[in-house]
Amino acid sequence: MSKAPKPPSGNKVSVKTLQSKKLHGEPITFLTAYDFSTAVALDRSGIDGILVGDSLGMVMLGYENTLPVTMQEMLHHCRAVARGVSRAHLVGDMPFMSYQASVADAVRNAGSLLQKGGMDAVKLEGGRNRVRAVKSIIAAGIPVMGHLGLTPQSVHQLGGWKVQGKSTHAARTLIEDALILEDAGCYAIVLESIPAELAQLIANRLAIPIIGIGAGVGCDGQVLVTHDVLGLFDRFTPSFVKKYADLFSEMERAFQEYISDVKERKFPAAEHSNSMDPQALRDLIREIEMQGLEFEPDDNQPPRFH
Ligand code: KIV
Repeated sequence: MSKAPKPPSGNKVSVKTLQSKKLHGEPITFLTAYDFSTAVALDRSGIDGILVGDSLGMVMLGYENTLPVTMQEMLHHCRAVARGVSRAHLVGDMPFMSYQASVADAVRNAGSLLQKGGMDAVKLEGGRNRVRAVKSIIAAGIPVMGHLGLTPQSVHQLGGWKVQGKSTHAARTLIEDALILEDAGCYAIVLESIPAELAQLIANRLAIPIIGIGAGVGCDGQVLVTHDVLGLFDRFTPSFVKKYADLFSEMERAFQEYISDVKERKFPAAEHSNSMDPQALRDLIREIEMQGLEFEPDDNQPPRFH
């Protein structure tokens, strides 16, 4: 089994660390995680931030989109990730309808992600339409990361998974929304699937870190869905993703090898098995034989008694 997580190899990454990285022009690295082992690996690798995204609905739970994800599901995965992390900054996504219906819901659910989920901050989607929720959550002492551009919880309103902010009007609206979120107190903003030039303009204009996903190299940092990075999600891969591994194929290969090893009795081999003390085994066989049971030894088969 896996070893216990390593002790922290540096100070915990905070909102202030991320803001200082922007100030010093140091790129900020984020990836998603939804489980303990991935969180441990990411933390050890030195990632700045881990997002427990509601993308878990698609890549972990097999939903068509992120809309069915509940607070319970988010909390379950947030807790698993938090157990594996000692250094990285942890952001929990607010799922659909956990902040849209009322400001009271928004504050209560954001609080749960910190109090019960072990997160350091929350992320929610939307601009000017979410200012009241953003301000109230921040007033409760909870850091909020904004999310603009292609906001998956509005997939039906947006008419699909399309690049946003392409026209002058749409781009201007996006810049305004980013400024509104900064003004409302967000400590960072994710920009998803927007033209690189527009993301660069926003990153230059705002003082807070801009984390891009499908938004070009001009952002202050990058985030991707870890399942896409590892090639673990077989359904589709967005064009802005760079695959750093093809673990889905590797997983299939390993499973097939295991199945044939078991069928051919190549697994478990001697090194995967425990043996009895020879004298204890001889005594046992004698006892069994005295009881009238015959023992048929066969080196390649488990012991059989008749
Ligand atoms: O849910 C998620 O993983 C996200 C990222 C795509 C930014 O929101």
